[in-house]
Amino acid sequence: TQKIIIDTDPGQDDAVAILLALASPELEVLGITAVAGNVPLPLTEVNARKIVELAGRHDVPVHAGCEVPIKRKLVTAEHVHGKTGLDGIELPAPSIPLQSLHAVDFIIETLRQHPEGSVTLVPIGPLTNIATAFERAPDIIPRVKRIVLMGGAYFEVGNITPAAEFNIYVDPEAAQAVFASGVPLVVLPLDATHEALTSRDWVDAMRALPNRCGPAVASWTDFFERFDREKYGSEGAPLHDPCTIAWLIRPELFEGREINVEIETQGEFTTGMTVADWWRVSDRPANALFIRHLDRDGLFALLGERIAQLP
Ligand code: BDR
Ligand code: CA
Repeated sequence: TQKIIIDTDPGQDDAVAILLALASPELEVLGITAVAGNVPLPLTEVNARKIVELAGRHDVPVHAGCEVPIKRKLVTAEHVHGKTGLDGIELPAPSIPLQSLHAVDFIIETLRQHPEGSVTLVPIGPLTNIATAFERAPDIIPRVKRIVLMGGAYFEVGNITPAAEFNIYVDPEAAQAVFASGVPLVVLPLDATHEALTSRDWVDAMRALPNRCGPAVASWTDFFERFDREKYGSEGAPLHDPCTIAWLIRPELFEGREINVEIETQGEFTTGMTVADWWRVSDRPANALFIRHLDRDGLFALLGERIAQLP
């Protein structure tokens, strides 16, 4: 099994990613670290605990991390995810406690305790917690096996500004530190995740599952879909964040290239842009596997099969 830490700002699509990970025997979730992003931290950490509890996994610790980006004011996305960040279904207040250890310290301690190269980080929100851990404890950087993140966009350009994707835009300085860290990166940008669109049949099948997680997933994706339908006129909700977990389990469902990706932090119009050298026109060395396409049917078959295993 692969050991992972999920760093997240739930978020309906984050929630589906967490459920997929918890349902997958290939993965051992060492902990979930919450960060401010889609909504402020007091909501994301509660949402993370609600999701873990929905999955019946009281053994998975949830830690709260950074409340604000490294150098900037927090930008949130209630317009996409609703007031709570997890609108769509009302879940009970969680009974599992928030861990007292700060998420950044949890990331540092976990990487120091486990053998070098055995822990994968899966950030599916702004990169503030990860960059802060790297800055505070640079000794952990070479200990990370890999970072598999959702963020960025190149051919699909932006979803929060014309040039930038939300997770990178919220904390570009953090993203820059992570992309320059030397840790092997797998990047799931909008180019790939906009292909991960739910279909009516799939959502109906989730709603019909005889468990509690299936109907919750259906309600979340229905809520989330509204935004994309109104904004882009597209059918289906893009399940961005679950693509990271799916890549870990079934990398053959994805295709991309090893290329150089730099983060713009100074641009007048382009701050937060992931400048991806797809055609390798610069001599900057590759630092990321940048995913461009995915197998939609394969992805949703995997998701459906795993969510059916949950309580
Ligand atoms: C990313 O931003 C958030 O709104 C989603 O949860 C996802 O992580 C997509 O741009
Ligand atoms: Ca997210």
